[in-house]
Amino acid sequence: MDGNELALRVGYAGYKILQEWTTDHEMAKSRLIALQQDLADIDLETITWRPVDLLDICAGYSEWASTYDRASNPFVELAYGEVFAVGSTWLPRSDERVVLDAGVGTGQGQQTWAWGGTMVALDLNLGMLDIFRAKNPRVQIVQGDMTAMPLADHSFHLIRCGFVLSHLADVGAAFAEFARVVEKNGRIEVVDVHPHAVLTGANGIYRRATGSIGCVPVHRHLVSTYLHAASANRLHLSRVEEICWPANVATSPGLIATETKGIARPIIQAGEPALLRLTLAPQQPDHGRSAKE
Ligand SMILES: C[S@@+](CC[C@H](N)C(=O)[O-])C[C@H]1O[C@@H](n2cnc3c(N)ncnc32)[C@H](O)[C@@H]1O
Repeated sequence: MDGNELALRVGYAGYKILQEWTTDHEMAKSRLIALQQDLADIDLETITWRPVDLLDICAGYSEWASTYDRASNPFVELAYGEVFAVGSTWLPRSDERVVLDAGVGTGQGQQTWAWGGTMVALDLNLGMLDIFRAKNPRVQIVQGDMTAMPLADHSFHLIRCGFVLSHLADVGAAFAEFARVVEKNGRIEVVDVHPHAVLTGANGIYRRATGSIGCVPVHRHLVSTYLHAASANRLHLSRVEEICWPANVATSPGLIATETKGIARPIIQAGEPALLRLTLAPQQPDHGRSAKE
């Protein structure tokens, strides 16, 4: 095992020791013994400390666009491979509806998301939209900011938004826009990296042409940040799910992706939270109640 893998294994063991310290002394002790060995084996000279360049959303995704679809991303695979599998009861087929994909990117997961209907694809980034357009020449594309969308009020039956909100400093501004453009009986489907995964190291990272790592950071929102933003904009939460890595997750603690070797990935372990998924709908006026009051 090289220095990077050992160092990340040490980090993961530390996380587990904190969890086990009070209630499982034997396990904590055996981890400490393994840790002593790992620490003795780490050769600091073999650790790749690859330089990281922090980039904002625009600069980062402009550069990342051309390779975005190439790198495997376990979060995206979990969301679009299993969670939103075609035929999922979450997105029953309907050819009637008008769908907005907010922050569509290159359109990963289109086959699963695009389950009937007419679609509008919105993104801030022209580079990402160019890749999307090449794959989906017939879909209407809008370049715009999700926090101030150039779209008419109440014009979409379904809004979906995958892996964008965690990039926003102000989640409330996006929810206000969702509430404005969603049709009165419409719904909003959101999936994003679970806050727990963000707190244990998840970030938007890719390999730059220069060899360094580009990082488009995500924000440390809590689950309640999303829920409060929804209720502040009169969006009713009809479903919330915190999806954990399945038992067969094919990674190890502190996975090191080949593309971004030298960068710690978040804890990807069976049972650890991976995705946060919300279904929201505009709150309906309670006619009965207001009549009595
Ligand atoms: C991680 S990618 C996700 C793409 C796609 N939704 C998916 O699930 O694969 C994030 C995308 O959100 C876009 N984005 C970030 N902030 C945005 C904003 N304020 N308005 C619109 N798009 C935004 C980025 O340009 C990028 O294409």
